[in-house]
Amino acid sequence: MADRETAITAEAASNIAFVKYWGARDLERAIPENRSISMTLTRCRSICSARFEPGVASADEVLLAEDGAVAPAPAAFRARVVKHLDFLRATSGRFGRIRIATRNTFPAAAGIASSASGFAALTVAVTRCLGLSPDPSQLSGLARRSGSGSASRSVLGGFVEWPKGYTEEDCYATELAPAEAWDLRDVVVVVERGPKAVSSLDGHRLAATSPHYRARQALLGPRLAAVRRAIVDRDLEALGPVLEEEAIELHLIAMSSRPPVFYWRPATLTVLGAVRALRGDGVAAYATMDAGANVHVICEPACEPAVIERLGALPDVLEVIPDRVGGPPVWRPGTEL
Ligand code: PMV
Repeated sequence: MADRETAITAEAASNIAFVKYWGARDLERAIPENRSISMTLTRCRSICSARFEPGVASADEVLLAEDGAVAPAPAAFRARVVKHLDFLRATSGRFGRIRIATRNTFPAAAGIASSASGFAALTVAVTRCLGLSPDPSQLSGLARRSGSGSASRSVLGGFVEWPKGYTEEDCYATELAPAEAWDLRDVVVVVERGPKAVSSLDGHRLAATSPHYRARQALLGPRLAAVRRAIVDRDLEALGPVLEEEAIELHLIAMSSRPPVFYWRPATLTVLGAVRALRGDGVAAYATMDAGANVHVICEPACEPAVIERLGALPDVLEVIPDRVGGPPVWRPGTEL
């Protein structure tokens, strides 16, 4: 391709895992200990503009766009992004400066997998700028190398399983069913907006120190099979109890790691109790969580208004974000941020 400046803006949504990635065989390369299954969302998304200036030797620029203003990213985030840019540049065999500007439509680092959508959008935008045309499997493998394993799922839409295998070559995500297969909703109940105290990277690092870590691995085969089956059958009553078990086990492992990691807040328990009470009233809704205090409530469209109304009215709830299953990333030429 011609060696001229290229600019791309990509958008990718976050995802919520039904079976969790928690613990790695190789954390540096984000090769997970176990398979995970997730649903890609729609509203909770990241928008990333990338511009590639071939041959320019000066440092990459990494900007965060918030509230209409663009400012340099904090040093730790910048370092993580530049490491991924170096990897993608090396993959393309091209040399030059990259400018990145990124923003989220939801609170970052609060258990809504902003690293998944952020690094998925960034990987799509940067690979395109560098003249690469990866297929979905290759894109997933490249997004994984950001260090955010869940980003490898956010480059696909609908219902996604990761990985296919555990070597560098086959550690990518695949689609189990497209978004159109099952109109599932995820009411994200925000009880905490700030960044979490312990990153998921540190959580993964500590996971194997929990005495419950190996026991969970032994349970996962049948659980993965049950979730795959429930997606095919669109059977929320089969899916719901499994996704609740999974969320609780992730936090059980975090809380029993050495040193222990607590992501829950008192309001987290209030919301979990309210979800059980909703079920008692005949509303089919099930709770899951990532590495954070916020709760994702999975339900079908008919129950969504009751979930939003009841959980949105709880005194400790800051916000509810009604989200739903969605498609893969999109991209277009030009920068917007
Ligand atoms: O993608 P990471 O490295 O930020 O890990 C995410 C882990 C969880 O969100 C807690 C679970 C998952 O599978 O998404």
